[in-house]
Amino acid sequence: MASGIADNNLEVNIRKAEVFDIPQIIDFTRNTFSWGDYLPNVINEWVRAGTAYVAVVRNEVVGVINIELLPTGVAWLEGLRVKPSHRRIGVGTALTKFVMDHARQAGAKYAMLMIAEWNEASHNLAHKLGFKPVLRVHAGIAKESYTIRETNPERMREAMRQALDITGGYLCTGNGHWICTRATIDYAHSLIKEVYVGDKGVGFDIGFSVGSPTTPVKMEVLSTDYGDFDKYYGVYIVYELRL
Ligand SMILES: CC(C)(COP(=O)(O)OP(=O)(O)OC[C@H]1O[C@@H](n2cnc3c(N)ncnc32)[C@H](O)[C@@H]1OP(=O)(O)O)[C@@H](O)C(=O)NCCC(=O)NCCS
Repeated sequence: MASGIADNNLEVNIRKAEVFDIPQIIDFTRNTFSWGDYLPNVINEWVRAGTAYVAVVRNEVVGVINIELLPTGVAWLEGLRVKPSHRRIGVGTALTKFVMDHARQAGAKYAMLMIAEWNEASHNLAHKLGFKPVLRVHAGIAKESYTIRETNPERMREAMRQALDITGGYLCTGNGHWICTRATIDYAHSLIKEVYVGDKGVGFDIGFSVGSPTTPVKMEVLSTDYGDFDKYYGVYIVYELRL
């Protein structure tokens, strides 16, 4: 638990989220964005996994964040939400700093996160904390495209190596849970089971394409280039900070 004073002299406590916090979290995250929010659907899982943290002011939950410690030495930060009534007083900053300290103590070497291109408040927050943009991805439900499935283990590995060269050593998972991380070729190999070669890119079964979305089935994809999306969510910027 950490205690701090927000910009307007309110005392903010940060602690691990508990099951009894869930109704309050759902209450203030239901309509975060114009389309709603995915957070109410995942908060149960995050709290039970013990990876979510909350900011509390006078017994009221006013902020939440989730942190996943990846085997790559990266702490993946996601789901930062501050109750509209308590924004712009430092709660988002305090939550992010708290989980970064926790990640550092747990041995993580980098913190990473992802922000929709339009989300100016979050970009400002990330820059203010010292995060630097490292990758730009397009997200959406990609249409199925003509691909050749690469099955030769050496050529699969070579495709992963080339993909990591192009991204500067980063990869993301797009189907279901969006996570981006620095990755070694061995880590990529441990995640990726199928490689698809297309006209305009190389796709991986983790829902990531380098180039345009390249997938033999319609699925959620993060890709480094724009392409054929059935439903397009937009551009997201991946940030990193050395802890
Ligand atoms: C983004 C969000 C988490 C910021 O939380 P917060 O507690 O208000 O942020 P802080 O008070 O710690 O602000 C820190 C800095 O972020 C930037 N910032 C925060 N809100 C901003 C806004 N509305 N416009 C522009 N910059 C903003 C500023 O640089 C600010 O520093 P300053 O107040 O000294 O100028 C909050 O607005 C929120 O919950 N938004 C909706 C959900 C969301 O977009 N989550 C992030 C998804 S990646």
